[in-house]
Amino acid sequence: MSKPPPTMQNGSMPISFARRTAWDLTSSETARALDEARAAGQAICNLTASNPTVAGFEYNEAAIITALSVPAVFDYDPDPRGILQAREAVCAYYGDHSAPMQPNQLTLTTSTSEAYSYLFRLLCNPHDEVLIAQPSYPLFDFLAQICDVRLNPYPLFYDHGWHIDFAALRQQITPRTRAIAIVHPNNPTGHFTSNAERVQLEALCAEHGLALIVDEVFLDYPLTNEISQSFATGDHPALTFVLSGLSKICGLPQMKAAWIAAFGPDREVATALDRIEVIADTYLSMNAPIQHAMGPWLATRGHIQNQIRSRCRANLETLDTLLSRQRLVTRLRVDAGWYAILRVPALMDDEDLAALLIREHEVAVHPGRFFAFPESGWLVASLLSPRRCFLRGTESIYRYFNDLSDLY
Ligand SMILES: Cc1ncc(COP(=O)(O)O)c(C=O)c1O
Repeated sequence: MSKPPPTMQNGSMPISFARRTAWDLTSSETARALDEARAAGQAICNLTASNPTVAGFEYNEAAIITALSVPAVFDYDPDPRGILQAREAVCAYYGDHSAPMQPNQLTLTTSTSEAYSYLFRLLCNPHDEVLIAQPSYPLFDFLAQICDVRLNPYPLFYDHGWHIDFAALRQQITPRTRAIAIVHPNNPTGHFTSNAERVQLEALCAEHGLALIVDEVFLDYPLTNEISQSFATGDHPALTFVLSGLSKICGLPQMKAAWIAAFGPDREVATALDRIEVIADTYLSMNAPIQHAMGPWLATRGHIQNQIRSRCRANLETLDTLLSRQRLVTRLRVDAGWYAILRVPALMDDEDLAALLIREHEVAVHPGRFFAFPESGWLVASLLSPRRCFLRGTESIYRYFNDLSDLY
């Protein structure tokens, strides 16, 4: 006899939740250590910061608010692709990057994360695959899961800078692969995709009928004088989607404004845009006042970008000065973005090391595992952290490893 289905105490049947949401929601060891330290009143130097609004930058608050105070915010005349004026402002941003673009290539979204979900919905049937670099940004796993998409990682390797392992990438392509995603510059490795890599990626996509998804949220934050081009420039042999948004470009993650720009063979672009429009029309999630403010905010992005770039570069210099005094920890080459990656002795699991640094040395950094580094020996520090906090935090890390150097 088969077992009767389980019943709740009150006799009703329990709800079955979708398997795609059966996440392990227990906190990581690092998150637990941080919560405990905060509860105990410890002053932790938090070098995991990624939120610019709480990192001590000076925002031009009056101008930001004024941009929202226009009579048009009372109109409700939605365009699923986004208000034309806002799309024109995004075109002007790309004009500044030598990438001429027409408003009809653009769809506005409430975040880059939402843009990914539109593209996963556009390109993938349930259980289709998208190739994604490893290491990379952890939110991708969730974005893919909630769209029933499988992420198939392809490795990056480090040899005087980060590179795509094309042999491994080719092997990951299956009949279910629908797209290759890259982050340019990548989070957290901070490397730009080179022109030679771009050519290979585009050829692979064209050969296998795959779309190329390019996330450029950190494009405006080079850490050296080498500038890399947006994928919005040049020719596009494969269907290509370039994603970005105000979270990083204007340091305004709370405003929730981003976009998808489509390029490539005319017919594929036209089909993609028509279908994305239906997805966008289904939700109409973009907020009208924010769209009206996008033009002025994008036009004045230099004010916050200059502060963020100066902070990240100064913190990187501080780090290099400290590291030059010891030999156990090295920093990997970084071209852009808000993070520095440290190669540390793999004495223990990264997660345990990060928790120990919080508990005993009052500094929080990301363990490499957070970004899917395949083995131990990696820590990731945010360069966005306020100067004094960064100095104190990196000195703590320096002292910890310097004390260990007697053992080596
Ligand atoms: C690489 C990358 N893409 C996308 C996002 C999310 O951007 P948004 O706030 O527009 O969703 C982040 C956030 O940190 C990111 O690091």
